[in-house]
Amino acid sequence: MKLPDTARFSTICIHAGQEPDPSTGAIITPIYQTSTYVQEEVGRHKGFEYARTQNPTRLALERNIAAIEGGKAAYAFASGMAAIDAITTLLEAGDHVVVTDNTYGGTFRLFEKILRRYQLSFTYVDTSCLDLVESAIRPETKMLFIETPTNPVMRLTDLAAVSALARRHRIKLVVDNTFASPCLQRPIEFGADLVIHSTTKYLNGHSDSVGGIVVAVSDDDIDALQFIQNSAGAILSPMDSWLILRGTKTLAVRMAQHNVNGMALAEYLRTHPRVKQVLYPGLPSHPQHELAKRQMRGFGGMLTFDVGSVEAAFDVCKRVRLMSLAESLGGVETLISHPASMTHASVPPERLAKIGLTDSLVRISAGIEDPGDLIEDLKQALD
Ligand SMILES: Cc1ncc(COP(=O)(O)O)c(C=O)c1O
Repeated sequence: MKLPDTARFSTICIHAGQEPDPSTGAIITPIYQTSTYVQEEVGRHKGFEYARTQNPTRLALERNIAAIEGGKAAYAFASGMAAIDAITTLLEAGDHVVVTDNTYGGTFRLFEKILRRYQLSFTYVDTSCLDLVESAIRPETKMLFIETPTNPVMRLTDLAAVSALARRHRIKLVVDNTFASPCLQRPIEFGADLVIHSTTKYLNGHSDSVGGIVVAVSDDDIDALQFIQNSAGAILSPMDSWLILRGTKTLAVRMAQHNVNGMALAEYLRTHPRVKQVLYPGLPSHPQHELAKRQMRGFGGMLTFDVGSVEAAFDVCKRVRLMSLAESLGGVETLISHPASMTHASVPPERLAKIGLTDSLVRISAGIEDPGDLIEDLKQALD
């Protein structure tokens, strides 16, 4: 099998990085569950010496996701947080990072509770406003860490504009692309230097693995990440690599249905009398709908709505039957959650207030079930 240079997105998802197994011809890359590799003589081997450093299943996944994101190489880690942690080791004591204020709660906790102790500093701004980003930049700023759309208030950052700003100031641009998935948004096309994913979400897509990946473009970043992955050793297991590889094969078809279901639920909720507001970039009422149309190839399966009070929010989460009350997102099954007390519980209340994350918000990760069944479930829960 030779993947043509002109291959389109879904073809790349299925075939990139995948060769029939050289020993048997197996079409699916096996789970190479091994810790070491036998060498023919000292210094003569097949490119694999020790499994922290190289594993064929992980390598196949890394090549697959590098191609999917339009990068040059990728490195897989034991979780999304391990991937973000690896990126921050590209920094040195004294460096400063400008971060999207509504970043994932775990990212905020890593930056504030751990990395500050190593003389790194972080400024959180609403990166949907370019002026705020620019005014937060200092001489020691080395990285912009962006999430778009943000979780759960669905605010967008203009990737082309922020990338131009990063280039002008010679700052590395990192984009956490977990929420959109590379099917809907490819930040490297806009000029990002590094893209990270919690593969736990859309890339795996089946809620049965935890993992993370960093996609890089420049040779310097590639060398540094390879060194960090091997030296710190927070590698993704062969089994998880295999599960995510299985997931990426269906990324395009899954995302098509996530888009349909996200829009169907947003449209339904928009008209419901008990819903005060729906936050979904696919709705024309979203303040950045035009930007979403420009930089995304679909609006995805994540939406948030305001039911007016914490009691009402808890009530909806309790009354749904088909949807499951759970953290995480991006799986084939629909999940519902209360961000203020679940995913964002580690974020201080004053920060939650600043980003508009109130306790009356409910978040849905729309799965790929029939949208009619999801609407009926929400209807009975809200009515
Ligand atoms: C946007 C985003 N980034 C990073 C992470 C962390 O990923 P993981 O849970 O795989 O460590 C998450 C987890 O929810 C997330 O939503």
